[in-house]
Amino acid sequence: MKEVVIATENTGKFHEIKVLLGSEFDAFYSLRDFSEKIVVSEDSPFYIENAMKKARKAGDRFGLHTIADDSGLEVEALDGRPGIYSSRYGKDDADRISKLLNELEGVPWDKRKAVFKAYLAFYMPDKERCYVFYGDIHGTIGFERHGEGGFGFDPVFYIPEIGKYAAELNIEEKNRLSHRGKAVLALKSFLNMDFFKNSRVLSL
Ligand code: IMP
Repeated sequence: MKEVVIATENTGKFHEIKVLLGSEFDAFYSLRDFSEKIVVSEDSPFYIENAMKKARKAGDRFGLHTIADDSGLEVEALDGRPGIYSSRYGKDDADRISKLLNELEGVPWDKRKAVFKAYLAFYMPDKERCYVFYGDIHGTIGFERHGEGGFGFDPVFYIPEIGKYAAELNIEEKNRLSHRGKAVLALKSFLNMDFFKNSRVLSL
């Protein structure tokens, strides 16, 4: 049986990743499925290192293939903030959004450009190998909240290519367009590459 841990406590992230990889694994676990808590201090200034650190720690602890992502929102008018500190920018999603809208008060539409970035690490503890995949999505921070779906900054992230806010997308649309969706699809292609599937060194 092919099992995988998605090393997150965030149910929004867990579902987005699980939906895309449904055909690749037989069982998915999030960190909420284990009584032992995995604490990782995301102390690197680089998303890629934090993603690998999370994947390695959970993978080594549970002895299962593990996926971990580190992501963030970089706002041009804020010189790339909150970026790597996105999850620590406020105490919860509502607080983070209020803070962002306050910081951008008076900033006109064409100066509110932003990008979400995601680094997704896939770690195989048995092989001690870790691969990392990247995705991004460009948009604009709106003046107020729109939509009920998604999580995090989704209600204020407008996506010009579809003409909707991220929180207005269904899960299929979000996964097709989003930073995390793109990174997960890159992982999926990798898992389906012949060299990976056939190789005795790397096979799942
Ligand atoms: P981390 O990757 O768990 O460190 O958290 C990244 C933070 O960036 C989240 O807590 C959200 O605030 C924000 N974020 C990352 N991806 C998304 C997304 O797809 N939608 C909205 N907010 C996101």
